[in-house]
Amino acid sequence: MRKKIVAANWKMNMLQAEAAEFVKDLLLEIGDMSAVEVVIVPPFTAIAKVVESLDKAQNIKVGAQNMHWEHSGAFTGEISAALLRDLFVRYVVLGHSERRQMFHETDEIVNRKVRAALEATLRPIVCVGETLEQRERGSVEKILSLQLHGSLAGLSGKDLHETVIAYEPVWAIGTGRNATPEQAQEAHAFIRETLTELSDATTADRVRIQYGGSVKVENARALMSQPDIDGALVGGASLDPRSFAQIVQAAANDEVVE
Ligand code: 13P
Repeated sequence: MRKKIVAANWKMNMLQAEAAEFVKDLLLEIGDMSAVEVVIVPPFTAIAKVVESLDKAQNIKVGAQNMHWEHSGAFTGEISAALLRDLFVRYVVLGHSERRQMFHETDEIVNRKVRAALEATLRPIVCVGETLEQRERGSVEKILSLQLHGSLAGLSGKDLHETVIAYEPVWAIGTGRNATPEQAQEAHAFIRETLTELSDATTADRVRIQYGGSVKVENARALMSQPDIDGALVGGASLDPRSFAQIVQAAANDEVVE
Protein backbone atom coordinates (compact mmCIF):
# COMPACT_ATOMS: atom_id res chain seq x y z
CA MET A 1 0.00 0.00 0.00
CA ARG A 2 1.20 3.49 -0.80
CA LYS A 3 1.91 5.69 2.22
CA LYS A 4 0.31 9.10 1.79
CA ILE A 5 2.64 12.06 1.39
CA VAL A 6 1.56 15.59 2.27
CA ALA A 7 3.94 18.45 1.50
CA ALA A 8 3.93 22.14 2.39
CA ASN A 9 5.23 24.24 -0.50
CA TRP A 10 5.87 27.60 1.10
CA LYS A 11 6.98 29.17 -2.21
CA MET A 12 8.64 32.59 -1.64
CA ASN A 13 7.35 33.03 1.91
CA MET A 14 8.46 32.56 5.53
CA LEU A 15 11.26 34.33 7.32
CA GLN A 16 13.46 32.14 9.50
CA ALA A 17 11.68 33.14 12.70
CA GLU A 18 8.29 32.40 11.13
CA ALA A 19 9.55 29.02 9.93
CA ALA A 20 10.75 28.09 13.43
CA GLU A 21 7.42 29.13 14.90
CA PHE A 22 5.55 27.10 12.26
CA VAL A 23 7.53 23.94 13.08
CA LYS A 24 6.95 24.38 16.80
CA ASP A 25 3.18 24.76 16.26
CA LEU A 26 3.01 21.90 13.75
CA LEU A 27 4.75 19.53 16.17
CA LEU A 28 2.25 20.50 18.87
CA GLU A 29 -0.57 19.59 16.48
CA ILE A 30 0.66 16.36 14.88
CA GLY A 31 3.79 15.31 16.79
CA ASP A 32 6.33 13.18 14.95
CA MET A 33 3.62 11.50 12.89
CA SER A 34 4.50 8.30 11.05
CA ALA A 35 1.14 7.32 9.46
CA VAL A 36 1.66 9.95 6.78
CA GLU A 37 4.90 11.20 5.27
CA VAL A 38 5.05 14.94 5.93
CA VAL A 39 7.44 17.14 3.96
CA ILE A 40 8.11 20.83 4.57
CA VAL A 41 9.42 22.67 1.52
CA PRO A 42 10.72 26.09 2.64
CA PRO A 43 12.53 28.71 0.58
CA PHE A 44 16.30 27.96 0.54
CA THR A 45 16.93 30.62 3.19
CA ALA A 46 14.76 28.87 5.81
CA ILE A 47 15.85 25.26 5.17
CA ALA A 48 18.51 25.17 7.87
CA LYS A 49 16.15 26.74 10.40
CA VAL A 50 13.43 24.16 9.65
CA VAL A 51 15.91 21.28 9.95
CA GLU A 52 17.17 22.65 13.26
CA SER A 53 13.63 23.24 14.57
CA LEU A 54 12.50 19.73 13.68
CA ASP A 55 15.25 18.49 15.99
CA LYS A 56 14.39 14.84 16.74
CA ALA A 57 11.14 14.68 14.77
CA GLN A 58 12.54 12.19 12.27
CA ASN A 59 9.37 11.44 10.35
CA ILE A 60 8.96 14.97 9.05
CA LYS A 61 11.21 15.53 6.06
CA VAL A 62 12.51 18.68 4.43
CA GLY A 63 12.41 19.49 0.74
CA ALA A 64 13.66 22.22 -1.58
CA GLN A 65 11.67 24.04 -4.25
CA ASN A 66 14.18 23.77 -7.08
CA MET A 67 17.80 22.91 -7.90
CA HIS A 68 20.30 23.02 -10.73
CA TRP A 69 21.28 19.82 -12.54
CA GLU A 70 25.05 20.30 -12.25
CA HIS A 71 26.87 19.06 -9.17
CA SER A 72 28.99 22.19 -8.64
CA GLY A 73 30.79 24.93 -10.54
CA ALA A 74 30.34 28.40 -12.01
CA PHE A 75 26.56 28.75 -11.86
CA THR A 76 26.03 32.01 -9.97
CA GLY A 77 22.80 32.04 -8.01
CA GLU A 78 22.10 28.32 -8.38
CA ILE A 79 21.87 25.51 -5.82
CA SER A 80 22.90 21.90 -6.50
CA ALA A 81 21.69 18.57 -5.17
CA ALA A 82 24.97 18.20 -3.26
CA LEU A 83 24.43 21.55 -1.51
CA LEU A 84 20.90 20.50 -0.57
CA ARG A 85 22.04 17.11 0.74
CA ASP A 86 24.55 18.98 2.89
CA LEU A 87 21.54 20.63 4.61
CA PHE A 88 19.81 17.25 5.17
CA VAL A 89 17.24 17.91 2.45
CA ARG A 90 15.50 14.72 1.28
CA TYR A 91 13.05 15.88 -1.39
CA VAL A 92 13.12 18.43 -4.19
CA VAL A 93 10.13 19.85 -6.07
CA LEU A 94 10.93 19.96 -9.79
CA GLY A 95 9.04 21.36 -12.77
CA HIS A 96 6.51 23.33 -10.73
CA SER A 97 4.23 25.21 -13.12
CA GLU A 98 5.45 28.53 -11.71
CA ARG A 99 8.96 27.58 -12.81
CA ARG A 100 7.75 26.26 -16.14
CA GLN A 101 5.78 29.46 -16.82
CA MET A 102 7.91 32.19 -15.27
CA PHE A 103 11.38 30.70 -15.69
CA HIS A 104 10.87 28.83 -18.95
CA GLU A 105 11.69 25.37 -17.63
CA THR A 106 11.08 22.74 -20.28
CA ASP A 107 10.53 19.01 -19.83
CA GLU A 108 14.12 18.49 -20.95
CA ILE A 109 15.43 20.78 -18.22
CA VAL A 110 13.17 19.11 -15.66
CA ASN A 111 14.46 15.72 -16.80
CA ARG A 112 18.09 16.77 -16.29
CA LYS A 113 17.22 17.95 -12.80
CA VAL A 114 15.27 14.79 -11.96
CA ARG A 115 18.20 12.60 -12.98
CA ALA A 116 20.70 14.74 -11.06
CA ALA A 117 18.49 14.63 -7.96
CA LEU A 118 18.18 10.84 -8.07
CA GLU A 119 21.92 10.45 -8.58
CA ALA A 120 22.44 12.46 -5.40
CA THR A 121 19.80 10.37 -3.55
CA LEU A 122 17.36 13.26 -3.38
CA ARG A 123 13.76 12.27 -4.07
CA PRO A 124 12.14 14.37 -6.79
CA ILE A 125 8.55 15.58 -6.59
CA VAL A 126 7.84 16.11 -10.27
CA CYS A 127 4.97 18.49 -11.05
CA VAL A 128 2.76 18.12 -14.10
CA GLY A 129 -0.57 19.68 -15.03
CA GLU A 130 -2.52 21.40 -17.75
CA THR A 131 -3.59 25.04 -18.15
CA LEU A 132 -7.25 26.01 -18.35
CA GLU A 133 -6.95 26.57 -22.07
CA GLN A 134 -5.49 23.09 -22.55
CA ARG A 135 -8.30 21.54 -20.47
CA GLU A 136 -10.95 23.41 -22.45
CA ARG A 137 -9.37 22.21 -25.69
CA GLY A 138 -9.64 18.62 -24.44
CA SER A 139 -5.86 18.17 -24.31
CA VAL A 140 -5.39 17.12 -20.67
CA GLU A 141 -4.15 13.61 -21.45
CA LYS A 142 -1.91 14.76 -24.27
CA ILE A 143 -0.25 17.38 -22.06
CA LEU A 144 0.19 15.03 -19.11
CA SER A 145 1.63 12.35 -21.36
CA LEU A 146 4.12 14.77 -22.95
CA GLN A 147 5.19 16.17 -19.57
CA LEU A 148 5.60 12.72 -18.02
CA HIS A 149 7.47 11.16 -20.94
CA GLY A 150 9.71 14.23 -21.17
CA SER A 151 10.40 14.79 -17.48
CA LEU A 152 10.88 11.13 -16.60
CA ALA A 153 12.85 10.00 -19.67
CA GLY A 154 15.56 7.46 -18.94
CA LEU A 155 14.47 6.62 -15.39
CA SER A 156 14.69 3.01 -14.21
CA GLY A 157 11.90 1.32 -12.26
CA LYS A 158 13.91 1.88 -9.09
CA ASP A 159 14.28 5.59 -9.93
CA LEU A 160 10.53 5.88 -10.50
CA HIS A 161 9.82 4.28 -7.17
CA GLU A 162 11.89 7.00 -5.48
CA THR A 163 9.99 9.67 -7.40
CA VAL A 164 6.75 11.36 -6.39
CA ILE A 165 4.47 12.86 -9.05
CA ALA A 166 2.36 15.92 -8.26
CA TYR A 167 -0.66 16.57 -10.46
CA GLU A 168 -1.21 20.31 -10.24
CA PRO A 169 -3.70 21.69 -12.76
CA VAL A 170 -2.44 25.22 -13.40
CA TRP A 171 -5.95 26.68 -13.25
CA ALA A 172 -6.36 25.41 -9.69
CA ILE A 173 -3.15 26.88 -8.27
CA GLY A 174 -3.71 29.85 -5.97
CA THR A 175 -7.16 30.42 -7.46
CA GLY A 176 -9.31 28.88 -4.74
CA ARG A 177 -10.76 26.70 -7.48
CA ASN A 178 -9.68 23.10 -6.88
CA ALA A 179 -10.24 20.21 -9.26
CA THR A 180 -13.21 18.13 -8.14
CA PRO A 181 -12.23 14.78 -6.61
CA GLU A 182 -13.56 13.10 -9.77
CA GLN A 183 -11.58 15.36 -12.14
CA ALA A 184 -8.44 14.81 -10.07
CA GLN A 185 -8.96 11.04 -9.85
CA GLU A 186 -9.39 10.82 -13.62
CA ALA A 187 -6.09 12.64 -14.18
CA HIS A 188 -4.30 10.58 -11.52
CA ALA A 189 -5.52 7.31 -13.05
CA PHE A 190 -4.23 8.50 -16.42
CA ILE A 191 -0.86 9.42 -14.86
CA ARG A 192 -0.61 5.92 -13.36
CA GLU A 193 -1.41 4.38 -16.74
CA THR A 194 1.35 6.49 -18.30
CA LEU A 195 3.77 5.35 -15.57
CA THR A 196 2.91 1.77 -16.57
CA GLU A 197 3.92 2.61 -20.13
CA LEU A 198 7.18 4.09 -18.83
CA SER A 199 7.98 1.06 -16.64
CA ASP A 200 5.58 -1.70 -15.64
CA ALA A 201 2.34 -2.11 -13.70
CA THR A 202 4.03 -3.12 -10.43
CA THR A 203 6.26 -0.05 -10.42
CA ALA A 204 3.43 2.27 -11.46
CA ASP A 205 1.32 0.89 -8.64
CA ARG A 206 4.00 1.85 -6.10
CA VAL A 207 4.54 5.47 -7.23
CA ARG A 208 2.81 8.09 -5.12
CA ILE A 209 0.84 10.77 -6.95
CA GLN A 210 -0.05 13.92 -5.00
CA TYR A 211 -2.75 16.37 -5.95
CA GLY A 212 -1.99 20.11 -5.71
CA GLY A 213 -4.09 23.20 -6.43
CA SER A 214 -6.17 25.02 -3.81
CA VAL A 215 -6.04 22.12 -1.34
CA LYS A 216 -7.53 23.23 1.96
CA VAL A 217 -9.01 21.69 5.07
CA GLU A 218 -12.49 21.63 3.52
CA ASN A 219 -11.58 19.61 0.41
CA ALA A 220 -8.54 17.58 1.53
CA ARG A 221 -10.39 14.51 2.72
CA ALA A 222 -12.57 14.13 -0.37
CA LEU A 223 -9.57 14.52 -2.66
CA MET A 224 -7.28 12.18 -0.77
CA SER A 225 -9.86 9.43 -0.40
CA GLN A 226 -9.82 8.87 -4.17
CA PRO A 227 -8.07 5.60 -5.06
CA ASP A 228 -5.17 7.14 -7.03
CA ILE A 229 -4.64 10.28 -4.93
CA ASP A 230 -1.81 9.56 -2.53
CA GLY A 231 -1.44 12.90 -0.81
CA ALA A 232 -1.33 16.62 -1.38
CA LEU A 233 1.11 19.35 -2.36
CA VAL A 234 -0.24 22.33 -0.49
CA GLY A 235 0.59 25.98 -1.22
CA GLY A 236 -1.43 28.75 0.46
CA ALA A 237 -3.03 26.57 3.15
CA SER A 238 0.40 25.27 4.20
CA LEU A 239 1.47 28.66 5.53
CA ASP A 240 -0.72 28.20 8.59
CA PRO A 241 0.40 25.35 10.85
CA ARG A 242 -3.11 24.55 12.06
CA SER A 243 -4.65 24.29 8.62
CA PHE A 244 -1.66 22.30 7.33
CA ALA A 245 -1.91 19.98 10.36
CA GLN A 246 -5.60 19.40 9.63
CA ILE A 247 -4.77 18.46 6.03
CA VAL A 248 -2.15 16.00 7.32
CA GLN A 249 -4.73 14.61 9.72
CA ALA A 250 -7.22 14.20 6.87
CA ALA A 251 -4.63 12.04 5.12
CA ALA A 252 -3.95 10.06 8.31
CA ASN A 253 -7.66 9.40 8.91
CA ASP A 254 -7.97 8.13 5.41
CA GLU A 255 -5.16 5.63 6.09
CA VAL A 256 -7.05 4.32 9.11
CA VAL A 257 -10.35 4.00 7.22
CA GLU A 258 -8.74 1.91 4.47
P1 13P B 1 -2.14 26.56 -3.70
O1 13P B 1 -2.42 25.47 -2.69
O2 13P B 1 -1.88 27.88 -3.09
O3 13P B 1 -3.20 26.58 -4.76
O4 13P B 1 -0.77 26.16 -4.43
C1 13P B 1 -0.61 24.88 -4.93
C2 13P B 1 0.80 24.67 -5.33
O5 13P B 1 1.27 25.27 -6.28
C3 13P B 1 1.61 23.75 -4.53
O6 13P B 1 2.81 23.46 -5.16
